[in-house]
Amino acid sequence: MDLGLTDRVYVLTGASRGLGFATAQCLVADGARVVLSARDADAVAAAAQRLGGPERAVGLTADLADAQTPERLVAVAREHFGRLDGALVSVGGPPPGSAASVTDEQWRRSFETVFLGTVRMVRTVAEHLAG
Ligand SMILES: NC(=O)c1ccc[n+]([C@@H]2O[C@H](COP(=O)([O-])OP(=O)(O)OC[C@H]3O[C@@H](n4cnc5c(N)ncnc54)[C@H](OP(=O)(O)O)[C@@H]3O)[C@@H](O)[C@H]2O)c1
Repeated sequence: MDLGLTDRVYVLTGASRGLGFATAQCLVADGARVVLSARDADAVAAAAQRLGGPERAVGLTADLADAQTPERLVAVAREHFGRLDGALVSVGGPPPGSAASVTDEQWRRSFETVFLGTVRMVRTVAEHLAG
């Protein structure tokens, strides 16, 4: 089935492994190109290589909690592939533990990443898609 994704370009966060990487694999298999990100530079580089290298996938080492990450990802998509068609926002959740055992600082860090990071990412990508 042709999903019409050939040469479309997507940015993905939390995509060096897990759900984000699996989604990147599906997009590339359908002909799309991807910009993927996570915090560990070696894992990002390895994931981009597994997806086919610079023709198909480029990696950016970036923390979703960083306010600059959305604009950086959009810029790489535009500079490397010349367009942007959408995004997948995935990220690791809070550390495993009960509500009682997770500290205030861990909750704050998770809020910065999972909530604010996602809101910023979606807002930035939506602005660029609208143009
Ligand atoms: N797997 C499931 O069946 C499932 C089901 C329901 C919900 N979920 C939720 O979906 C999310 C992803 O799950 P997963 O199984 O794909 O997790 P995973 O295998 O642990 O992968 C998480 C990915 O996110 C990256 N990441 C973590 N923190 C980040 C940050 N602050 N900024 C940028 N990238 C970050 C990780 O790389 P780095 O550590 O190098 O940054 C990695 O690439 C989690 O919140 C999980 O709770 C998962």
